[in-house]
Amino acid sequence: MTTRNVGQPFVRRDGRAKVTGEARYSYEVAVPDAVYGVLVTSGIAKGRIVEIDTSAAEREAGVLAVISHKNALRLPGEPHLEGPDRVVQALQDDRIRYSNQPIAVAVADTFERAVHAAMLVRVNAEVAAHTVRVEDELHNAFPHKIMAGGKLQEPDESHGDVAAGLVAGAARVEEAYETPFETHNPLEPHATVASWSGDRLTVYDASQWVFAVKKKLAKGFGIPPENVRVVTKFVGGAFGCKGSAWSHVVIAALAAKQVARPVKLALSRHQMFGPVGGRPRTRQKVAVAAQRDGKLTAIRHETVSPTSRFDVFVEASALQARHLYASPNIESRHRIVRLDIGTPTFMRAPGESSGSFALESAMDELAHRLEMDPLALRLASYAEKDPADGKPFSSKSLRACYQEGARRFGWEKRPRTPRSQTRSGQFVGMGMATAMYPANFAPAQALARMLPDGSAQVESGTIDLGTGAYTVFAQIAADELGLPFEKVRFDLGDSDMPEAPIAAGSMTAASVGSAVLVASRALRDRLIRTAIVDSASPLHGLAPIEIRAEDGRLVATSGKSDSYVELIRRAGGKPIEERGKTAPGDEREKFSMHGFGAHFAEVLVDPDLGTVHVSRMVGVFATGRILNARTARSQFLGGMVWGIGMALHEHSVFDEKLGRIMTRDLSDYHVAVNADVGSIEPLFLEEEDAHVDPAGVKGAGELGLCGAAAAIANAVFNATGKRIRELPITPDKLL
Ligand code: MOS
Repeated sequence: MTTRNVGQPFVRRDGRAKVTGEARYSYEVAVPDAVYGVLVTSGIAKGRIVEIDTSAAEREAGVLAVISHKNALRLPGEPHLEGPDRVVQALQDDRIRYSNQPIAVAVADTFERAVHAAMLVRVNAEVAAHTVRVEDELHNAFPHKIMAGGKLQEPDESHGDVAAGLVAGAARVEEAYETPFETHNPLEPHATVASWSGDRLTVYDASQWVFAVKKKLAKGFGIPPENVRVVTKFVGGAFGCKGSAWSHVVIAALAAKQVARPVKLALSRHQMFGPVGGRPRTRQKVAVAAQRDGKLTAIRHETVSPTSRFDVFVEASALQARHLYASPNIESRHRIVRLDIGTPTFMRAPGESSGSFALESAMDELAHRLEMDPLALRLASYAEKDPADGKPFSSKSLRACYQEGARRFGWEKRPRTPRSQTRSGQFVGMGMATAMYPANFAPAQALARMLPDGSAQVESGTIDLGTGAYTVFAQIAADELGLPFEKVRFDLGDSDMPEAPIAAGSMTAASVGSAVLVASRALRDRLIRTAIVDSASPLHGLAPIEIRAEDGRLVATSGKSDSYVELIRRAGGKPIEERGKTAPGDEREKFSMHGFGAHFAEVLVDPDLGTVHVSRMVGVFATGRILNARTARSQFLGGMVWGIGMALHEHSVFDEKLGRIMTRDLSDYHVAVNADVGSIEPLFLEEEDAHVDPAGVKGAGELGLCGAAAAIANAVFNATGKRIRELPITPDKLL
């Protein structure tokens, strides 16, 4: 494809609307006659509701209903879908399965009255003994297939003889690593606005996937899917938690049906901790061994993570060990345990981010033991083909990422030994790590329409999570149609539009981008055919191959041309449209497809206080074609900032006795803020990849986080000589 617009750093189309407040997020959509729903959630982690007294709440002014399992409509269907969907608690029984589970909803004419009513609900529960500690359930750990990259993967995989390989190495590391429970904290909490008209349901939802919400609600309420429309125009961050329609979505629709008014329901910040997922804690073991020259003789990566009692999520931390480094012997193993918690879920780079902390820390430990440069160790076992199956990579520029990153960062200035370099009384440390994330691609559809004024309208029911979807897909269509960027409008976020996959797994640009490309190309070809059969067209009778699209015109090699405006006018003045559809094909079987990158981090550690400041980070990534240099940079930047949070701050702390997450707002649950962030330089090396998908894109949303926490942890070791194997790296662990 020609690339006049693709790659350009256009500003986000939705940026102005967002900063001026014009953008209507789901909860803010004006729906006439709407009333407000506020959830009542469980204070205990396990048990049964014996009595729920809603009388005081119901007596209050403006209260329309307080709905619990006692008086909730019976759902005619079980709303659970397969795939990334989650089992919900929609007030259908008296069971309490985790702390903060929705158990009732108060509906009132104002938000404030609904909040007040929810507080007046009294619950008498029979408390059962709960378990929220992974350690207590290890004896019941079991393997389960893993849903990752759009396919089911085996929990265990091994080739060669790892035990022999570990013995054969000149040096070996066998250590346990741990990452904590983490909770998504998008600025926009989950929110649903549900409105019935007879048996037709319209929902505005803070969602990453309107089609799944639609199917789930249709299934639960026993109505045809075409009766449900789901709209999501703007999302204020999601990161995986909005990839599933959780309990509150079904409850909002149920309440709206029951009070016969549209209902707006948003979760409070506190209610985000439990009922809507989170990254599960991981306990990982990594064993790596290498010869003197750094060639790996064995890799073993094992992980245990919790899921809920009633649903399954596997944090796939050991998957990347199968594909990252060349070694004759590789083994990976996933186990899960059941706890009395809300079901964990996908959180930015699920598996790869938590797993890379362990694997890339172990590699750093091995380099130290071999007295080898950590980057040289990685180069010594550079995988030229996928170690799991010997398939070639569709493209892999990791070596160039290492080189460029080391050069930009000044890796050669890395202190040789811990505690050997200080700046303003602080120890200086430098660390690095590899980033890797699969290049996912799912079936997607789009529609492209040429309007009589010569501008184009393109759409697909995907979501812009803040990633730039509104902008980058217009860029792709503009190039295919030979239009300036301003002449193409891209619209999204509506289940009435052509179907798109979940906006997750870093696959939206690849999947929807390819569908937009195919639809736009089909439209251009249709316009060309229309011109050459039109006796009034200057292009009449030419062969399609002689004609290209440029500046709003179809131009022949001879120089003759016809404009879209003229062409459509002569054809009757109606818009002309085409649909496009893409899906993964054979190439997926022939090649191993991943994005790669290299992180370099510098930290300053206070020897007296144990505080860590990440003063500098350089990340160099190669992930296929870059659609927009500005939005791609922003994705990598966000991933790297998240890496700081993962390394130093994020931790959902359970009170094990109560079975409850106690860090339940942004003053307790810490994420990296401006003061925590030093200089961050995300760079990317463009790749031409003819195999990965029609758009040549591998995705950028998650790659920037993979390996980021490990690079920081490795820098902390380089600064202090202390190896912290349990995230987050808080000052107490360094003193
Ligand atoms: Mo993401 S965790 O793939 O939304």
